[in-house]
Amino acid sequence: CGIIAVTGQGATVEVLTSGLKRLEYRGYDSAGIVVCDENGLFSRLRVAQGKNSLDRLDSDAKESEFGSIISGIGHTRWATHGGPTLFNAHPHIDCNGTISVVHNGIVENFRELKDDLISRGHIFSSETDTEVIAHLLEESLISKGSLVEAVSSIAPIMRGAMSFVAISSTEPGVLVGFKRMAPMVIGRASNTWFIASDIPAILDRAEVFYHLEDDHLVCVTGGGAEIFNLEGDSVDLVEFPVTWSLESAEKSGFDDFMSKEILEQPGALRDTLAGRLASSGELILDETTSDPDSLARINKVFIVACGTSYHAGMVAKYAIEHWTKVPVELDISSEFRYRDPVVDERTLVVAVSQSGETLDTLAALHEAKNLGAQTLAVCNVVGSSMARLADTVMYTRAGPEVGVAATKTHTAQIGALLLLALNLARTKGQLYPSEIDALYEELTLVPAKIQEVLNSWDAIGEVAKRFSGSSRFYFIGRHVGYPVALEGALKLKEISYLPAEGYPAGELKHGPIAMLDEMAVVVAIATRTRLYEKIVSNIEEVRARNSSVIIIGNPGDEGQANLGESFISVPRVHPLFAPLVDVVPLQIFAYHMARNLGMDVDRPRNLAKTVTVE
Ligand code: G6P
Repeated sequence: CGIIAVTGQGATVEVLTSGLKRLEYRGYDSAGIVVCDENGLFSRLRVAQGKNSLDRLDSDAKESEFGSIISGIGHTRWATHGGPTLFNAHPHIDCNGTISVVHNGIVENFRELKDDLISRGHIFSSETDTEVIAHLLEESLISKGSLVEAVSSIAPIMRGAMSFVAISSTEPGVLVGFKRMAPMVIGRASNTWFIASDIPAILDRAEVFYHLEDDHLVCVTGGGAEIFNLEGDSVDLVEFPVTWSLESAEKSGFDDFMSKEILEQPGALRDTLAGRLASSGELILDETTSDPDSLARINKVFIVACGTSYHAGMVAKYAIEHWTKVPVELDISSEFRYRDPVVDERTLVVAVSQSGETLDTLAALHEAKNLGAQTLAVCNVVGSSMARLADTVMYTRAGPEVGVAATKTHTAQIGALLLLALNLARTKGQLYPSEIDALYEELTLVPAKIQEVLNSWDAIGEVAKRFSGSSRFYFIGRHVGYPVALEGALKLKEISYLPAEGYPAGELKHGPIAMLDEMAVVVAIATRTRLYEKIVSNIEEVRARNSSVIIIGNPGDEGQANLGESFISVPRVHPLFAPLVDVVPLQIFAYHMARNLGMDVDRPRNLAKTVTVE
């Protein structure tokens, strides 16, 4: 879900509708706004179901008469509690029409809170957990007198990760936002103030950005903002820099964000690597509160992540173990937090997350801190929750990623994690400084190699055309080719909805081979990494079952492809850097497959860019 709220001189409906458009990428199935005039009168517009509902919201808003607006809140909803209907769309309003709320996350104890409220005479008009907040505030406002005190009194009784913004007709022009383990930023442009779930929603409006910490609330008017903790103490507003350009968050003439972002990969990786190695050979991190020698004490690394970020973490495991001899465990964040992970103060827990807000990874990071581990966040969003929670932060400098399916942030994550591996090798004395320098130099040449793959955009499109009628795909790879295979399969299923599975090629004969027939397509990552010859044997096994084969290989190996098979050539790089190059044709392949099937590549069904619910 996405939130935008505005108050002050520049508060207009257009700020809300255009902000929601910028949040579209988060995924949504309904949307709505409430505006408040200077007399405290609310006007609400909501849309649900169907494509382009934000366009409908925009045109409905243009046709409506709203009087003199003083503040407003807007929301894109991705259904969790209650279906994607108009009644469930946010903003929600209490029975008396005094309070309106937009909310991200989940109120975990909403059933018991709702039952209590119903027993006290409240009538609900939706199935959402959000509406509970509106009714609780309605009651609390009567006893507390002000919206900020009402929010402060109900926040502790609600369980779960959430952020919300409330307005009250009794205090026109006041916005109160609350945050707990769900994203929320504050922005300002002279006498106009904003609250949003994501920076892009207000990137074109706000000139200054401020953090809001967990379990803090912010009270905003056109005249300023004040932050409080739940004890009612005032907390300082802390500004943070946002260097993303407006252009980077716009399509700028491209058909979609996904193609733009795939093509931006050389720059994203270059920026992520640039200036990271000090002349002393030390890795330059973006933020750190841990003492410089603590990394030397590390005897285990634990990587936690979800989705595409997990695949970047897999690549890191190979590199860290190879260069540093430090054991690396890897876990899906939602598994890590519930399985008594064995970590201590000599473990470095690395949370990898584009958004820095994925709830499961954030919770895993909390768990790691509670267990006393050292923590590092690899994130793309400056000031995100994980970046603020972890002891140390390394930002990927990929710029905003809007397409739901991650592309440029994935290669930037791999780049950042390879640097971390080199740094650990230096700390552990496993590589000579000259070796590290040489590897770093070689790594900085990879963006140009990615550019070479991008130049094959149309040729890869032709391969996709050949297979546009196929309905079953298996991606196989070995060693670092295995995470590439997983990512290739994930990209294809995310945006084309075609069944696709990724496997370590050695596992082929332990199950997947039973699925191979003349209808199956096998994509083999067969570049010259450590186990090249073994993957070539696996390709033979596939051929023997008459399945179609697409080979991702290096120049000179074109002859590997039999007549009728497809060979996509990618430049050869250091074996541990190969995922950076080898994954790119798979992103382009998935893109073309999805486009050929008429799919919306930027907003795949059922998926959200940032999953802030469990
Ligand atoms: C969602 C997105 C994926 C992303 C995953 C993890 O599922 O659709 O593209 O890889 O979340 O997100 P994160 O922001 O933590 O990298």
